[in-house]
Amino acid sequence: MEFIGHILIFPFPAQSHLNSMLKLAHLLDLSNFHITFFVPSNIHARLLALTDVDSGRFTTRFRLQSFPPGIYDGALDSKEGLLELCHSLHTIGKPFLKQYIAQNHDSGLPFTCFISDLLVSIALDVSEECFNHLPVYYFRTISACAFWTYFSLPDLFEAGELPIKGNGIDSSPITKVKGMEDFLRVRDLPPFCRDEDMAVLLYTETRLAVQVRGLILNTFEDLEGPILSHIRTKYPKVYTIGPLHARLKATLASKSTHSNSLWEEDETCMAWLDSQEPRSVIYVSFGSISVITRQQLMEFWYGLVNSGKKFLWVMRSDLVAGKDDEESPIPSELKEGTKANGYIVGWAPQEAVLDHLAVGGFLTHSGWNSTLESIAAGVPMICWPFFADQQTNSRFVGEVWKVGLDMKDVCDRSSVEELIRELMEKRKGEFLERAENMGKLAKEAISEGGSSYCNFDCLIQDMIKVNEATRELL
Ligand code: UDX
Repeated sequence: MEFIGHILIFPFPAQSHLNSMLKLAHLLDLSNFHITFFVPSNIHARLLALTDVDSGRFTTRFRLQSFPPGIYDGALDSKEGLLELCHSLHTIGKPFLKQYIAQNHDSGLPFTCFISDLLVSIALDVSEECFNHLPVYYFRTISACAFWTYFSLPDLFEAGELPIKGNGIDSSPITKVKGMEDFLRVRDLPPFCRDEDMAVLLYTETRLAVQVRGLILNTFEDLEGPILSHIRTKYPKVYTIGPLHARLKATLASKSTHSNSLWEEDETCMAWLDSQEPRSVIYVSFGSISVITRQQLMEFWYGLVNSGKKFLWVMRSDLVAGKDDEESPIPSELKEGTKANGYIVGWAPQEAVLDHLAVGGFLTHSGWNSTLESIAAGVPMICWPFFADQQTNSRFVGEVWKVGLDMKDVCDRSSVEELIRELMEKRKGEFLERAENMGKLAKEAISEGGSSYCNFDCLIQDMIKVNEATRELL
């Protein structure tokens, strides 16, 4: 097989980022590239223990490479955790990458390009020191709308629209994010804007990326076209190749998708779904990082039980903040209601769940993978954003794409019940029709001749061209 390139892939080591990056890696592996995929040692161990990432999924051209120990592996639901992880990736990850690239140079399979996630500053520094200035592609695993909001943060600070005054649930308009002037409000901004350190980190990395060879986004033109046109005024080449999970599934033409979960998936919920009426179940999941208080847990639980709808809830082992063993017992009415209408798992095969006909709605935290998976599956959403890009995503779901309801930070049992009834009963037909139409557009985008399909081909051709240029340097 002719050598067409060796790609260094460096994801931000969190569940969602790993998920989409491993799917991209799979598609690149199927396109005959060599790949080395770098993860911290704790993630490496969990992927080996829980997935087939190192046993049969990939060809022998793929290698999962562990960083040395010492990279932060704690919680990521706070600024401190995120900054600790970024710091350790700079201090431990970056020198390791430099050394690894140099040692690999004479291996006969030199690296020919670098795909970086959030921390493009590391990739650009490493590339700078490589003999051939490894070309860097920036794969940002969030939505285009959130990406563009991060890019625009300096303009908001300059115009005095940031920092946020008050407690941030303020609905005053934000006028300095081009393309969002008519609907973006303070409460739709990433909560990180409230913190100078996080805001600076996010917009610095985002703006640094104008130097990269290409910007890869897991979205599609029919979903985020207007925002993408603004992004294209700043970035040299933008490749929209999503929904990646749907593209990979179509390419593999297999029912089962390879799990990238860092928790054990409980498949028993699929049999439970099989016994439910079509579009009768609301699926509830708050992603891999969000946490809720015990009070919020009770409010969601009462809202779900009181709605009378069937529900499948992912109660991740670390979902409830401050959980302790002596906590008060679950009220009997919740136990009864769950026995009658609910099914609870610690972690679900989410793509299969959303594709199941029994699922008619998704109460989500609006993480980008969950949002895109729900859109691709034609499932309407109720959005309860927690942090990061989720506030912006939820505003687009409710206000722009109109494929769901944006509850924002409301969390009382009567609102939860009311929103579930609105999505699953009162306005069911309206939301299902719009969600199914957007799902069809997603399917067209990743099908042969579709925008994402063609953009992926262009990306591949560009990476092959880069390899040819690099080989001439050797
Ligand atoms: C984080 C941020 O929270 C999110 O806002 C940002 O867009 C990406 O990084 P996360 O919280 O993990 O992501 O949410 P999300 O982007 O939705 O990714 C969660 C992934 O885990 C999805 O791919 C989903 O399919 C998977 N998942 C979730 C499961 O496989 N099983 C589950 O039970 C729950």
